[in-house]
Amino acid sequence: MSSYTQLVNRQHSLAPDYIPLDLTEPEIPFLAPSGDPKRLLRARAAQAVEELFQRARHTGLSLHGISGYRSYKRQTELYQQSDSGYVAPPGCSEHQTGLALDVSCPAVHYELEEAFALTREYKFLEDYGPMYGFIIRYPRGKEKITGYAWEPWHIRYVTKTLALYLSLTNLTLDEYYQL
Ligand code: DAL
Ligand code: ZN
Repeated sequence: MSSYTQLVNRQHSLAPDYIPLDLTEPEIPFLAPSGDPKRLLRARAAQAVEELFQRARHTGLSLHGISGYRSYKRQTELYQQSDSGYVAPPGCSEHQTGLALDVSCPAVHYELEEAFALTREYKFLEDYGPMYGFIIRYPRGKEKITGYAWEPWHIRYVTKTLALYLSLTNLTLDEYYQL
C-alpha cells in the first residue's frame, strides 16, 4: 500500500489498478448517502478526520465531508465530463489514494467554491488541520507549483509530523519533494 506521505500530482501518478486496502467510512457528516464510495478514506485518515471534525463541532463549527475516495474509473468519468482546471487526469488524483477529502459547510451551502475560504470552518482547518495530520493541498498563489487551481476545500492527510512541518515552512507537498 502507498505511504501516507506519497506525492500524487500531474507528474507522479498512481496505477489504474491501485485501490487502498484499508478504506473505511469515517463517522462524520456527509452529504452523500451511506454506502457511497465517496464516503471512504484510508483507516488512519478516517480516524484523524473524525477527531478533527469533532474538535470543530465542539467549537460550534459544522464541517461536512463531500468527496473522499475516488476510483481510477470514477476519476476518468469526471475528467471526461469536465473542462475546468479543477479535475485531475485519471491516476493523478489524490482522491484515488483515499487520503484526500473535499469538505464544505452550511455557510456556503455545502458547495465546493472559493467562498469557502471566507468561512470560520476554513480558518479552523488552516489553524487546526495540521495538528491532526491534514494540509490544505492546493493553496492560493501556489497554482503553478501544484498544477491545480486554488481549492480551499481539498484537504489531504499526510501525517501529523509532515503536516506540521509543511504548515510551519509554508511549503506544498510538491515543494517538499523537491527539497
Ligand atoms: N480536484 C482535484 C485536483 C482532483 O481531481 O483530484
Ligand atoms: Zn479534492
